[in-house]
Amino acid sequence: MKGIVLAGGTGSRLWPSTKVISKQLLPVYDKPMIYYPLTTLMLAGVREILVITTPQDQNSFADLLGDGSQFGVSIQYAVQPKPEGLAQAFIIAEDFVGDSSCLMILGDNIFHGSGLGHQLRHTLPNSGAHIFTYVVADPSQYGVLSLNIDGDPISIIEKPKNSISRLAVTGLYFFDNRVAQIAKQVVPSPRGELEITSILDVYLKKKELTITQLTRGTAWLDTGNPKFLHDAATYVRVIEERTGMKIACPEEIAWRNEWLTDLELANRSKTLGNNEYSNYLKDLIGSVQNF
Ligand code: G1P
Repeated sequence: MKGIVLAGGTGSRLWPSTKVISKQLLPVYDKPMIYYPLTTLMLAGVREILVITTPQDQNSFADLLGDGSQFGVSIQYAVQPKPEGLAQAFIIAEDFVGDSSCLMILGDNIFHGSGLGHQLRHTLPNSGAHIFTYVVADPSQYGVLSLNIDGDPISIIEKPKNSISRLAVTGLYFFDNRVAQIAKQVVPSPRGELEITSILDVYLKKKELTITQLTRGTAWLDTGNPKFLHDAATYVRVIEERTGMKIACPEEIAWRNEWLTDLELANRSKTLGNNEYSNYLKDLIGSVQNF
């Protein structure tokens, strides 16, 4: 399975902070935002990843993430010239995905919770589409799923004015390799975007859309406006300080997956200078516990 991180967009709800820097490069407490979705893909076992950015931000992402080898993965880059919708990502990524299925995550989505990696590795189907829903207090800013009495999906509506349910569709999507062809048929919405909801609707109508409802023990955090971004940073700080363990540390995940050796982790730590993050990596080596 191939992975896509979609990190385009204008981040206009965070202007002026994102006027000259991509939203997904802003820090969420102690690391860049993109580390969070990147590590979600890594936890799912994905090692071939395409990062889609705006043209002007591509070099910054490449400077930060390189070819991915420091995280034991392979990272390639592509651009989305204009923010013309999430569904366009599958057209941009068509050659990269090739004959594989793909797991796409939005570059501003933060997931954290016990057993998330296990869940991702074991619940994805072999074909069709799969989404992850999450109960939120205010679903009006998201794609919203409604279910029938048997728990089967009946509709997904993008940012509904009147609440149809509290099940938000999170920014993590699995698709089989028909998705690029389906994306090419999508007609732009009134706001001029190729909506991912339109793709999901095709799978839903074929009865090939399956769902995992993330439990209340999982955190799904939004970072789209200044308050949410601050909340996400606070969440990360509180958990990390309490446990002494980092959330979304790609080097740690790679090392625990045995994608990096002790020596590679030590070398990576050295390239990061002398700071709390590099010390954390150094201290992992030789730690006996496997949390
Ligand atoms: C996008 C999707 C929406 C989804 C959300 C998750 O919205 O269109 O269906 O619920 O991501 O983060 P956006 O944040 O681009 O407005």
